[in-house]
Amino acid sequence: MENIDKSSKNKYYPTWESIKTHQLPQWYDDAKFGIFIHWGLYSVPAYAPPSGELGSIDWAKWFYMNPYAEWYLNSIRLRSGDTWEYHKRRYGEYFDYELFSYIWKAERWDPNEWAKIFREVGARYVVLTAKHHDGFCLWPSRYTDYNSYNRGPKRDIVGELTNAVRSQGIKMGLYYSGALDWRYTDQPITSLEDLLYVRPHTYTYADYAYNQLMELIDRYKPSVLWGDIGWPEKGREDLKYVFAHYYNTVPEGVVNDRWDGIWKDFSTKEYQLSISPIQGKWEMTRGIGFSFGYNANEGPEHIISEEGLIELLVKTVANGGNLLLNIGPKADGTIPELQLQRLKQLGNWLNINGEAIYSTKPWIRSESRSFEGNKVYFTNRDNNLYVIVFGSLESRSVTLEDIEIGESVIIQMLGTNQNLNFRYGEDKKLSVIFPEEIQESVAYVIRITSEELRG
Ligand code: GLC
Repeated sequence: MENIDKSSKNKYYPTWESIKTHQLPQWYDDAKFGIFIHWGLYSVPAYAPPSGELGSIDWAKWFYMNPYAEWYLNSIRLRSGDTWEYHKRRYGEYFDYELFSYIWKAERWDPNEWAKIFREVGARYVVLTAKHHDGFCLWPSRYTDYNSYNRGPKRDIVGELTNAVRSQGIKMGLYYSGALDWRYTDQPITSLEDLLYVRPHTYTYADYAYNQLMELIDRYKPSVLWGDIGWPEKGREDLKYVFAHYYNTVPEGVVNDRWDGIWKDFSTKEYQLSISPIQGKWEMTRGIGFSFGYNANEGPEHIISEEGLIELLVKTVANGGNLLLNIGPKADGTIPELQLQRLKQLGNWLNINGEAIYSTKPWIRSESRSFEGNKVYFTNRDNNLYVIVFGSLESRSVTLEDIEIGESVIIQMLGTNQNLNFRYGEDKKLSVIFPEEIQESVAYVIRITSEELRG
């Protein structure tokens, strides 16, 4: 039995038993769409070969053709491969990565402008990389001067963005790289095994990570604590102190599943790396292209299409997940045009169809195909079933099988307010006739309102 002071007013104690009583807060389940931001020293070189999506490349090759630009330091430590060749050409063989901390200026960065964009495109939460694997910190940490307040931009990026995001009514979360900090190791990671073992293994580092995480919690009270790769083994016992302290400080906070398996509020999926089976709340994350950090090498052919992005959000939500869509800003603090374009396209769609996304629940079925051949997804809220229809609408109707709708039914298309005609037969087939004039869209949402919805 541990020695715990039960006289304290804190609700959570540093035991797994106590931490496991934390319930997923409603806001997180309702939010559905968040924005991840990878911004740091790696945004200066902004280089990686755009080789493909995580999960589609063999692990044996991955690190040598790593499309993640935020892995720049690891990629140049390999001393072979595309990124290393680029580094030699552009900066020279002896140019130390840490020198980017004097080059990075973020001279055009306006956190309020970012936050306004995030609100306009419909994001309900934001997660910023407070410290990524390279170890550079975006806040004035008491525990290192290798940070953005002391060097480079000379600003408390975490603090300024937190304030700006909150003033737009959006939740603010922080990412912290726990298991990896490349200032504490000098060997590159070349394989999946390295990812597990080429980590800082000292008590000094474990204490450092613990102190920094506590500092972030106390100073910024993040609504999401997003860990990555794992937590230092030498500090394994610390985690329950961190989580108890976190929930006592931010009772409505959530933690992800990358702290080494003991506790999570939600699971994460990254590109094609899947979690199976998915149990409980989960979050899909990916960049707009193949990278999280800005990769100036990426063109339109490497980034997700408008339709692909909307379908990704819809499919994720229909299956009970949230989408944490990443942007990789440029070193100067602007959001690259291609990324902004996708964000706005998603935002425009949500503006009309957000009712079928936010605060919905998965339905009995998440997807199917209409008789006419359209891919459809389902979400559900109260007495409303939302049918999200992709593909061409040439046939002007969508016919769904195996739907029970009961007697009094109203069917409308989001964005219009006229009732739609439909046919419904004994065979439980529902055929909805589309209005004559509809505004062109990547996906149309049909709302079926009925007291007796079943399928
Ligand atoms: C990964 C990567 C990383 C990225 C992240 C986002 O594990 O190492 O660069 O930050 O996950 O999900």
